[in-house]
Amino acid sequence: MNFAEAIMEIKTFELSNQSGMTVTVTNVGCAIISLKVPDKNGQPRDVVLGLDKAEDYLGKHFYLGVIIGRVGNRIGYGKFTLDGKEYQLATNDGKQHLHGGVEGFDKKIWTVEESGPAKIVFSYVSPDGEENYPGRLAVRCTYTLSQDNTLRIDYFAETDTKTICNLTNHSYFNLEGYDAKDIYGHVMQINADQLTAVDEALIPTGAFAPVAGTPFDFNAPKPIGQDIEKAGAVNSTGGFDHNYVLNGKAPAASVYAPGSGVKMTVTTDMPGMQFYSGNFIDGAVTGKGVTYQKHSGFCLETQLYPDTINQPHFPSCVVTPDKPFRSFTAFKFEK
Ligand code: GLA
Repeated sequence: MNFAEAIMEIKTFELSNQSGMTVTVTNVGCAIISLKVPDKNGQPRDVVLGLDKAEDYLGKHFYLGVIIGRVGNRIGYGKFTLDGKEYQLATNDGKQHLHGGVEGFDKKIWTVEESGPAKIVFSYVSPDGEENYPGRLAVRCTYTLSQDNTLRIDYFAETDTKTICNLTNHSYFNLEGYDAKDIYGHVMQINADQLTAVDEALIPTGAFAPVAGTPFDFNAPKPIGQDIEKAGAVNSTGGFDHNYVLNGKAPAASVYAPGSGVKMTVTTDMPGMQFYSGNFIDGAVTGKGVTYQKHSGFCLETQLYPDTINQPHFPSCVVTPDKPFRSFTAFKFEK
């Protein structure tokens, strides 16, 4: 496919239900462009940061709303070994591999397998050796909107050869509205007692760090802004950018925005969740009439733990022809 043909393939789709929720998605990176839910006054409020149009997702975007793969989050020095063979992936985040490499799944134009009023199925076949990962990986990502204002994402990936996979969605939420200034007033609760401890390059050391008594503890709900500075000083992250070890209580997280009255809960079967407070957004991306700034949105990226391939005691991201990757995450909105 040449560039002109590829552009022709780019489309946007609208999912809606009878309860006032509308989600606009594109097949570029399966990006969620907008997500409108009723606020406390019953008015639709768009609660995700997004770009103007589908084609824009081929450019710079800080991973706004896209699907991340093959392996989300970081792999230390981009290296791993599988069946005695060492692989060197792109080091696109300092010396580390991040979010699938130079051209991850977020930059691919996906095929639309099925599309209905409240459901869409995207697929993408990642060839053997793409971004230096072994194996041909066939991926399917399904968005389903239900009447109770839940957007569910189902991930499925099967391979012809042993490889690694860790898929997630990288939506930045601002439940006050995508054009609200920051996320500090959002009240967050996360059902996790530990983090995967990281070094200054955000690579796990292998240790689990208890959150109790630290700025990272969200077991009792608190505003994101309360301890964001203290949290950001720990690994020079400039805010929250940490993988929470979910303790299995549902939901994994809930977030409430007092101004709009919008509440979001996140449910998943994944063992980890990266809470990222948009620390690196720096005014370089504009979408929907807004220039996005540091802390203007937050992500809850459900996933296997970062660098899990290099930490044998972490849940495995290895997939084989007999053991595909399968997971789900549901974002539910209430007012
Ligand atoms: C993830 C990472 C962050 C950052 C963003 C993308 O959430 O954990 O460190 O790289 O993606 O900007």
